[in-house]
Amino acid sequence: MNEEIYKKIEKEIEEIKFQAENESKNIKSNEKLEQWRIKYLGRKGLILSFTNKIGTLPEDLKPVVGQKINEVKNGLTLLYKEKKKEIIDPLLIKKEKYTDPVYTYPGKTPNEPRLHPITIITRRMVDIFKKMGFGVHTGPEIETDYYNFSALNTPENHPARDMWDTFYLDYKKGILLRTHTSPVQIRIMEKLKPPFRIIAVGKCFRRDAFDSSHSPVFHQMEGLMVGSDINFSHLKGVLIYFLKKFFGADIQVRFLPAYFPFTEPSAEISISCVICNGKGCSTCGGSGWLEILGAGMVHPEVFKNIASKNSLYSSDKISGFAFGMGIERIAMLKYGIDDIRYFYDNDIRFISQFI
Ligand code: DAH
Repeated sequence: MNEEIYKKIEKEIEEIKFQAENESKNIKSNEKLEQWRIKYLGRKGLILSFTNKIGTLPEDLKPVVGQKINEVKNGLTLLYKEKKKEIIDPLLIKKEKYTDPVYTYPGKTPNEPRLHPITIITRRMVDIFKKMGFGVHTGPEIETDYYNFSALNTPENHPARDMWDTFYLDYKKGILLRTHTSPVQIRIMEKLKPPFRIIAVGKCFRRDAFDSSHSPVFHQMEGLMVGSDINFSHLKGVLIYFLKKFFGADIQVRFLPAYFPFTEPSAEISISCVICNGKGCSTCGGSGWLEILGAGMVHPEVFKNIASKNSLYSSDKISGFAFGMGIERIAMLKYGIDDIRYFYDNDIRFISQFI
């Protein structure tokens, strides 16, 4: 019986250790390291909270559990010290005492230029699609109601417009800041002759409050593949390939039915949580899954709208799939960043730490 209680406690402690080690991997600043220390090793931290529970355990378990806690605590303390050494605190540079310059010394090398994390992630994503033969396109950030909504089978007063809180520049004329990259699909189809496969990356705008997971400006990547025999297996093949290349071959991918006005059927695609490997943690809300993408087969109504301008799309044989994903979300998961605002604060200590 006590054996069972021990196993349970041991598992809990091990889980916290695993979580702590995992989180520590992405720590690149003293501030984050300190937050990590308080969370796990602080007086009210997760590890010491176990020590307080010892008193309630059966006598024979007290020493073994105590030993286990100590072992994990020592391990994490060591990890903390190693991390501390690894991090060069940029503030230290400022704290250096002023001394008269020695003019014979060589000057300080300027900071090495670095790319913004969103740029790094975008390029990696684009590279994977390029290898699959996708062309890279862009579209305007200022859009019309037609391209952003109506052509995408979301006419005026369609309830699905609620999914996108929109910044209008001129409401009467239907001029707005695009709420997603999907209008690029329409612009591309009006121009290109099928078959083709393209992606488009760019800024999108929504009337959302600026909080840890929302920003009024963010980036999306859109994908579209059109031809005469494109089916759902192509969609699955392309997206599973992308997700495994990007997040690692050992992740799992889940497709669930969803609704988007411009695709039928539509799917919401999740991957097994990259933080806890699907066990359930705060990042995945305990579900073990992270929603990454929206996708589906291009709705016949969308092709009909295109056909009025480009007759190549009037054939019954034309089919295609589309997908869209938020780049900030993907970057946050990849780098273990818990607040979207870091991307826009332009703090050089944050934005220069990614490679
Ligand atoms: N545009 C959608 C959004 O912003 C995402 C999306 C879903 C794009 C399904 C697609 C798609 O191309 O097929 O929420």
